[in-house]
Amino acid sequence: MPNIFSKPPSYAFFFLFTLLFFSINLASAKSNGFSNVLSPKKLGVKREKLSHLHFYFHDILSGRNPTAIRVADAAMTNKSKTSFGAVEMADEPLTEAPDRNSKLVGKAQGIYASAAQDEVGFLMVMNFAFMEGKYNGSSLSLLGRNTVLSTVREMPIVGGSGLFRFARGYAQAKTHTFDPKTGNAVVEYNVYVFHY
Ligand SMILES: *[C@@H]1O[C@H](CO)[C@@H](O)[C@H](O)[C@H]1NC(C)=O
Ligand SMILES: *[C@@H]1O[C@H](CO)[C@@H](O)[C@H](O)[C@H]1NC(C)=O
Repeated sequence: MPNIFSKPPSYAFFFLFTLLFFSINLASAKSNGFSNVLSPKKLGVKREKLSHLHFYFHDILSGRNPTAIRVADAAMTNKSKTSFGAVEMADEPLTEAPDRNSKLVGKAQGIYASAAQDEVGFLMVMNFAFMEGKYNGSSLSLLGRNTVLSTVREMPIVGGSGLFRFARGYAQAKTHTFDPKTGNAVVEYNVYVFHY
């Protein structure tokens, strides 16, 4: 590469001026009110952390206060061995221990729907809304496939809010107890997320 600074000074000056002119133009083109490039520091985004969260999820279908209710199904859903087509809206407690009355750390709010015909497999679209300590008000969003009869199911964490902004990671769900008579289940969750 030729060294322009070894050329006569007027040449170098002209080159720098042109560079400056174009970079100012480029900067103003990027910052047009709709979008602009930010430095992560400006948003307070510093060092990435990896967090592990552990809690129990209570899916209660029986009794007067179910935590999940069926909001839709298809004509064939009742004939399907996997309840294919059933859509449940859930607002389920997340607790520190398997006991329903142990400390509440958050709620799992969202939809699970039977999306598989040959095995029991749910589409899970859920927000974990946390209420505990510094996580109160922060949330994680889960979107994944839950084959509930498998020992461990892994589902992606696709985002978050509050302390979990920019979150990404995965959740592992393991059935702790299941009552086939009522359909009630307690599920152990281990969640691993990168966030700032
Ligand atoms: C399926 O069965 C349930 C009761 O088991 C009933 O409430 C519901 O209406 C049925 N759905 C259809 C589409 O037949
Ligand atoms: C969480 O925050 C809400 C609203 O700011 C507040 O009412 C509630 O008491 C807090 N809960 C805990 C457990 O700190």
